[in-house]
Amino acid sequence: MDYIKINGGNPLYGSLKVQGSKNAVLPTLAATILNRGTTVLHNCPNLSDVRVTIEILKFLGCKIKRESDTVIIDAKDITNNYIPHDLMNKMRSSIIFMGAIIARTGEAAMSFPGGCELGPRPIDLHLKALKTLGVDIKESHGYIKCRLEQMVDNNVHLDFPSVGATENIMLFASLSEGKTTIYNAAREPEIEDLQCFLNEMGAKINGAGSSTIEIEGVKSFHDCTHIVIPDRIAASTYLCGAVAAGGEIELESVCPEHFSAVTSILSECGAKIETGDNSAYIKAPEIINKIDIIRTLPYPGFPTDAQSIMMSVLALANGTSIIKENIFEQRFKTAGELAKMGADISVDGKVAVIKGVKNLTGSTVYACDLRSGAALAVAALAANGTSKIFNTHFIDRGYESLHSDFKKLGADIERIYQ
Ligand code: EPZ
Repeated sequence: MDYIKINGGNPLYGSLKVQGSKNAVLPTLAATILNRGTTVLHNCPNLSDVRVTIEILKFLGCKIKRESDTVIIDAKDITNNYIPHDLMNKMRSSIIFMGAIIARTGEAAMSFPGGCELGPRPIDLHLKALKTLGVDIKESHGYIKCRLEQMVDNNVHLDFPSVGATENIMLFASLSEGKTTIYNAAREPEIEDLQCFLNEMGAKINGAGSSTIEIEGVKSFHDCTHIVIPDRIAASTYLCGAVAAGGEIELESVCPEHFSAVTSILSECGAKIETGDNSAYIKAPEIINKIDIIRTLPYPGFPTDAQSIMMSVLALANGTSIIKENIFEQRFKTAGELAKMGADISVDGKVAVIKGVKNLTGSTVYACDLRSGAALAVAALAANGTSKIFNTHFIDRGYESLHSDFKKLGADIERIYQ
């Protein structure tokens, strides 16, 4: 089993270019099947989730070429309108293809994505919205069959500003008849990037970034080229690494406004932060201040994806901090692994109480999910002694090369393949 080996104690110095956004590129790749032509995506990160998404595009009939961080998708011929079980199982967020496949072919079939390490991952909001828009949906034995009866103009009110459900509706409604308005839409930057991409292909969408998105369906799309936005959670990971390990780093090719909820907390922790149009500089504090309470919320609130990474920072704070996880049911598992390193964290339901300790100690730990792996790396950079982080496959889903990036910044870190 591969693992990442870290000898803690090196402060981080230097600059780093941040990868393209996983959570922007996945729905954008799905959207390319709406264009019966060729689409070029730049700044496409090389992640296992991206590789699975490309496998699905090929299964649907697309021809794909990858040249460094550019992916060229030829979606002239779509020959399948379903996603096989084995591909659905590889990545639950494949549900994002549903709206696009129905819009392109009139029907779609796929298995329920099922839960993941973060707990149950229901898709009721996706299905309810598509039904409202005229899609007939039959569910049996874990399989979902969709058929577009007659697209109806409609308003979709999301009970929760679900990122995936918002994206699925945008993909479906953009290439259909009629006008669709989404109320209580997710406001994440990835939604804005998807609107930008769809409009570059000829869609007529406005409002992304706000809670109300208006979509006027069009009959067809045309070829385009798009540059994927930077990954705000990857950026947050490196900033948290610098605060935990000490030192000062500069991130390039980022959109600081996309992770201002994270930099605001890190400033409260005592870090010195300066941001430019596409850069972010951070200098670690001598002592990390505790944070009374952090609540994870939909954007622009504090992102759940940065929760466990921030927990690693607060494990070393001077005092007791509280984190309330409002988005996912099981996103505190990292606390148990951090405890192996000497962290003092008590979890009760949605609340984690983090009593800062002077030092963490290197240990053998296991990533529980994608961001948990990143959080353990952040903690290991600061710990005394050597850590080994297993379950690296989780980390590979969202980071091109977490160990190479931290190595570039001076960490004593390597990936052991065995
Ligand atoms: C996206 O997941 C991201 N994934 C997640 O990032 C991120 O944590 C999440 O948004 C929240 O920001 C991608 O973009 C690929 P949601 P998504 O639908 O779309 C409930 C990472 O680490 N819900 O906004 O699945 C759901 O159970 C990953 O990069 C329903 O109840 O998130 C959860 O509690 C992890 N019914 C909450 O809403 C539904 O139909 C947020 O889910 C859909 C969601």
